[in-house]
Amino acid sequence: MYNLAIVGATGAVGKKLLQVLNERNFPIRNIHFFASSRSEGKTINFQNKNIVVETIKESSFQDIDIVFCSATNEISKKIGPMVRNAKSILIDDSSVFRMDDDVPLIVPEINPEDIDGHTGIMSIPNCTTTPLVMVLNALKEFAKIVKVNVSTYQAVSGAGSAAINELNKQLEEIVQNKKPTISVFTHQIALNAIPQVDIFEKNNYTKEEMKIVNESRKILHEDMLPISATCVRIPTAIGHCESVSVEFDEDIDLSKIIDLLSHQSGLIISDLDDILKYPTPLNTENDHNVYIGRIREDLATKKGLLFWIVADNLLKGAATNAVQIAETVILRKKIQARI
Ligand SMILES: NC(=O)c1ccc[n+]([C@@H]2O[C@H](COP(=O)([O-])OP(=O)(O)OC[C@H]3O[C@@H](n4cnc5c(N)ncnc54)[C@H](OP(=O)(O)O)[C@@H]3O)[C@@H](O)[C@H]2O)c1
Repeated sequence: MYNLAIVGATGAVGKKLLQVLNERNFPIRNIHFFASSRSEGKTINFQNKNIVVETIKESSFQDIDIVFCSATNEISKKIGPMVRNAKSILIDDSSVFRMDDDVPLIVPEINPEDIDGHTGIMSIPNCTTTPLVMVLNALKEFAKIVKVNVSTYQAVSGAGSAAINELNKQLEEIVQNKKPTISVFTHQIALNAIPQVDIFEKNNYTKEEMKIVNESRKILHEDMLPISATCVRIPTAIGHCESVSVEFDEDIDLSKIIDLLSHQSGLIISDLDDILKYPTPLNTENDHNVYIGRIREDLATKKGLLFWIVADNLLKGAATNAVQIAETVILRKKIQARI
């Protein structure tokens, strides 16, 4: 049994963390919930107990074994050293530590052994990286990958609770013939598509696009993986989609590729028996797996494969992956259980 802390327990990912810990019967001795001062003193019912939400103090993690942080980059930066000092383990959802050399970036189905080199902090990847690397991990067994091009279609919940509220509010305003209020995104998101997720870098790619590039390389241990991305926000609530083109150094063999994909743990091919059963955000919501469909040869090159991926960004893209990391930490005996 373990003492846990959830930082950001009231947020979009935090609420899912509670759901996943409960569903997977995580061995919990006791659990503390942290959020901002806006939520201090509120109670959250978890496993039939009303637990009071606290704000973070210097001593907050002294008796905690695992801290899940799903708050903000600033909060992750602040608590990282506090968790390390407390000799606890931080499983962090933010992007701040992901590319640090001493921080494992983990998808448990792919690189669980990377956990062994941890120094108190481990990160989950970005919610578009995780589904993509689950597929690329299987495909790299087919032949050398010479090019990956990905376009994403990302739900508003990827930007947190405030973004979900913004989409709902704008839809109401449109129905009432009012001017939609814009605050989270750079443009109106309702009835729109915005080719910008996160801020722009100097190379004209967005931060989200560069996260896909850099994080995929780190997780797959392929420093030179030739990959680029275009990330687009669309007005769906939950579930990120990716349209992907992969080129190999040899002609594709669809049956071999499908066999490899069907053996990748955590990945499900949706539409093998029925072409209309391709995955969508709505038919994969609240599911912990990554779904792939529309697998076909690229008409532009015999060495190319096209496909479509969908995953629940709040689950496999965040909470499920984080809890699986904690389970892997236990499995690999990187933490001492309490009685
Ligand atoms: N959403 C996704 O699909 C996704 C996927 C992968 C990773 N992530 C990462 O997960 C993290 C959380 O994302 P989210 O979508 O859940 O955001 P969110 O819905 O905006 O939730 C943010 C959480 O952080 C808490 N918080 C804010 N300021 C705080 C402070 N000063 N001290 C303690 N807690 C504070 C909030 O508490 P209050 O309720 O009191 O404001 C809330 O619980 C982010 O780092 C994000 O990048 C998100």
